[in-house]
Amino acid sequence: TPGSLEECLNLDDIEALATKKISRKAWGYYYSAGDDLVSKTLNNTVYRSILMRPRVFVDCTRCDTSTTLLGHKVDVPFYVSPAAMARLGHPDGEAGIAKACGTYGAMQIISNNASQTPEQVVEGKEDQVFGWQLYVQMERKKSEDMLERIKKLPQIKFICLTLDAPVPGKREHDERTKSGGGVAANEPVRSAVQSGSASTTKPHPEEKSVRLEERLEGDDSAGGVGKALFAGTAPDLTWQTTLPWLRKHTDLPIVLKGLQTHEDAYIASLHAPQVQGIILSNHGGRALDTAPPSIHTLLEIRKYCPEVLTKIEVFVDGGIRRGTDVVKALCLGAKGVGLGRAPLFGNGAGGVAGVERVLEILKAETETAMRLLGVEGVGELGPRHVNARAVERD
Ligand code: FNR
Repeated sequence: TPGSLEECLNLDDIEALATKKISRKAWGYYYSAGDDLVSKTLNNTVYRSILMRPRVFVDCTRCDTSTTLLGHKVDVPFYVSPAAMARLGHPDGEAGIAKACGTYGAMQIISNNASQTPEQVVEGKEDQVFGWQLYVQMERKKSEDMLERIKKLPQIKFICLTLDAPVPGKREHDERTKSGGGVAANEPVRSAVQSGSASTTKPHPEEKSVRLEERLEGDDSAGGVGKALFAGTAPDLTWQTTLPWLRKHTDLPIVLKGLQTHEDAYIASLHAPQVQGIILSNHGGRALDTAPPSIHTLLEIRKYCPEVLTKIEVFVDGGIRRGTDVVKALCLGAKGVGLGRAPLFGNGAGGVAGVERVLEILKAETETAMRLLGVEGVGELGPRHVNARAVERD
């Protein structure tokens, strides 16, 4: 196992280093996925069955990984997916992840259940691109208050509404390790929504989320960190009611996260321009186990309703470990590619420096893959550069 960030050569090394450093509880929460981890495993292995079609005699002196996501310029085509509770792994937390994103020109989506408030995360980062992810709360007023707060943060360019986890999946690693102590686990952990700090713009750093802490530390029936965080999340969202409600409470573009079929991708595209993007995702395998990897859904869309790819921006996440994974997803039509666990493990392995190492490795791998494939820029990547026949399902 690598002993330092410098010794980490790939994202698996980063995860191994973080696993040594973080508490059992943090590891269990980050690592866990639904039931038998079938979707989590497939998310990654599916990329291994897609082969590259490199072209030769192409000048690859220049290589440009920059692109635009939802109209905003970014330096890399991958972004940080919304993921809760970064401070469980390291006190730098989501604000540290944001700092690392600043260094690499990467977009970040802040989780509804982040362990720091959105104000803390975006502070002083005027030039960066952020989204804010919403889990609509049963008490709608709580979500409405959060949307009011988000309006005051110009760095936040869109609302990402997560749809694939109306109830938490059954995550046994999380359940087994929920009381595993360790230095980081004893750090105050807060989620902006559950702490009820609706009107607080800058809470005192020592302020604890008592209710959440009680759930995380005290309640053995909670079934792990994931289940504790889900308390209060609304299970009654629908196409008919939720988008009109959201329109009343935000003018920001909407990105729907967690779509897993071409049918839902098509319906989402009918809601343009309010809906500007969709994220194909099975929540890192953490919701319904045996749900398809996002690359399958992307291939379905290509086959049954390719016009979706031109009407709205389509993103994918889940299982990204290598630059070649990033490039393959882009070749098949993804506009951007999300990273869930990798930044959390980077943070756990070394705070800001650990997340920077993750982004550095993935950027270098993406450049190498593009050069060896024979392309100079992200815009050139297309289906002709890959052979995905082995994973086309029907
Ligand atoms: C998540 N994910 C997630 N998604 C979301 O919309 N809101 C959230 O609060 C969280 N929280 C969260 C916590 C942890 C610990 C993980 C691992 C994941 C899902 C995340 O955005 C993303 O879809 C997946 O993590 C992508 O898969 P990989 O990159 O982890 O394989």
